[in-house]
Amino acid sequence: MRLDVFTLVPHAFAWLTEQRPLATVLGGELDLRLFSYRDTTPLGSGTVDDEPYGGGAGMVLRVDVVAAALDAVYDGPPAHRVVALSPQGRQLTQEVVEELAKEDHLTLLSARFEGFDERIVEHLCTDSLSIGPYVLSNGDLPAMVLVDAIARRLPGALAEGSGELESFSPELGGRLEHPQYTRPAEFRGWRVPDVLLSGDHGKIERWRKEHVR
Ligand SMILES: C[S@@+](CC[C@H](N)C(=O)[O-])C[C@H]1O[C@@H](n2cnc3c(N)ncnc32)[C@H](O)[C@@H]1O
Repeated sequence: MRLDVFTLVPHAFAWLTEQRPLATVLGGELDLRLFSYRDTTPLGSGTVDDEPYGGGAGMVLRVDVVAAALDAVYDGPPAHRVVALSPQGRQLTQEVVEELAKEDHLTLLSARFEGFDERIVEHLCTDSLSIGPYVLSNGDLPAMVLVDAIARRLPGALAEGSGELESFSPELGGRLEHPQYTRPAEFRGWRVPDVLLSGDHGKIERWRKEHVR
């Protein structure tokens, strides 16, 4: 999958690209490319945003800047989905992640301050996605959330079996995974359930199924 992110801070994604499972698929199943609006802005001195028409606080990301950035990379209207990250978008769920992870090519657009000139969302994007009903300062953390959530669904990202029975998966009926425990078996009087120490795989399977929440 090719995943393109347009941002003002491409360097901020360096940390993410070093983390597994993303690092595992990078350069293989995942071709992650980062672009800065500043590199292609048609305005002077790296300007990318402007004051809102009608007045008010803050700055708005300009439509001509985003159009120039997309034109420079795609040389015309992209044939794939272009997603604006916005608190006003469709809410992100695991179902949406699974849907996006099936795409061959996807573009994410991040904004900051007051957000996008609405014409960007209307005319240059196919989707608008929110990572939750709260407002962050910019779209870079939301972009990273999406990149990570998508990357871990790509083939080879996770050890075999570990991605199927997860919280929100269809296999668990969209519910939450059973509780997990590791050593020590007892700590401050808090004991791991006996069944998990029993070595009886049938009983353990039953206990896990009963404890899906
Ligand atoms: C401060 S927000 C703009 C908020 C906007 N003025 C509003 O009231 O809806 C700046 C940018 O951060 C990103 N952002 C903030 N919260 C987000 C969320 N919950 N999901 C996705 N993107 C978000 C978007 O790219 C947004 O344009």
